[in-house]
Amino acid sequence: MYHEPVLFSESLDALHIRPDGVYVDATFGGGGHSRGILSRLGDNGRLYAFDQDDDAAANAQQVPFAGDERFVFVDSNFRHLKRSLRVEGQPPATIDGILADLGVSSYQIDTPERGFSYRFDASLDMRMNPQDERSAADVLNTFSANDLQRVLSEYGEVRNARTLAQAIVQHREKKAFRTTGELVALCEPLAMGERWRYLSQVFQALRMEVNDEVGALRDFLADALEMLAPGGRLAVIAYHSIEDRLVKNFLKTGDPEGQVQKDFYGNIARPWNIITKKAIEPMDAEIQRNARARSAKLRVGEKARGRPDE
Ligand SMILES: C[S@@+](CC[C@H](N)C(=O)[O-])C[C@H]1O[C@@H](n2cnc3c(N)ncnc32)[C@H](O)[C@@H]1O
Repeated sequence: MYHEPVLFSESLDALHIRPDGVYVDATFGGGGHSRGILSRLGDNGRLYAFDQDDDAAANAQQVPFAGDERFVFVDSNFRHLKRSLRVEGQPPATIDGILADLGVSSYQIDTPERGFSYRFDASLDMRMNPQDERSAADVLNTFSANDLQRVLSEYGEVRNARTLAQAIVQHREKKAFRTTGELVALCEPLAMGERWRYLSQVFQALRMEVNDEVGALRDFLADALEMLAPGGRLAVIAYHSIEDRLVKNFLKTGDPEGQVQKDFYGNIARPWNIITKKAIEPMDAEIQRNARARSAKLRVGEKARGRPDE
């Protein structure tokens, strides 16, 4: 299977799908969630599915998506949600529900030549979009020791980030990084705790930097608020504490940092009704079936309908 969708029924239920509504799956991947959305839409419904990955785009050309007139694949980074939907003829405040299931798919991780996994020796690529300029090798070979340390500790929570960052810089002075195997060999003697956990943290940190995943999420959240119709729903499944925190703050205040926003008259802005006071997490049975679901957190908001004077 390309990718088993996480929190499948929970996220679809959260969208409150209306059969004739307009929906966005921001992270198409293997199309698991998209299938579910289509199955709840009637003939007049519409689904825009985004993905920046070529293999995901190829999935969208297959049955049941190909030939389904309700389905439109948008080959774009979801950070350009508003711009891309405008090109499709969809103005702001016209979408009934948006789903984002962040990160990478199992297929991407399990495809050795993409370089996402420490389990295979491959080129240090890690780009979701092959047109992007910067690969993981570029990050390792060009970032300063301070920037490497920041990436490793913020995105990977690598405990000895400073030591590893310095070792990376020393290594590349002799030989530039090209393969995942070279990075694994450098990490192994420095690994703290379990080997697999340490390597996962290092690889995750690099992947998040290469794809600017946090920056893309910030841009996406702002666009999602503009694109939703009042009463429309946003459902986000995050797998990383930084991403979950941004979503939580954004639903609370309309700002990813959680800064209270005020309008012209000094009233506190509340752009969302929070549907999930506490994040929804997968049941044990799902985690046993699909280890990838382990760290998933689903948060849902409904765009406020606005005060009568607005
Ligand atoms: C976890 S998978 C989604 C799986 C999907 N829900 C399913 O059921 O098959 C995440 C997908 O989102 C895509 N993706 C991640 N960040 C993206 C971004 N900023 N813009 C567009 N696609 C992105 C990845 O390429 C990947 O295919």
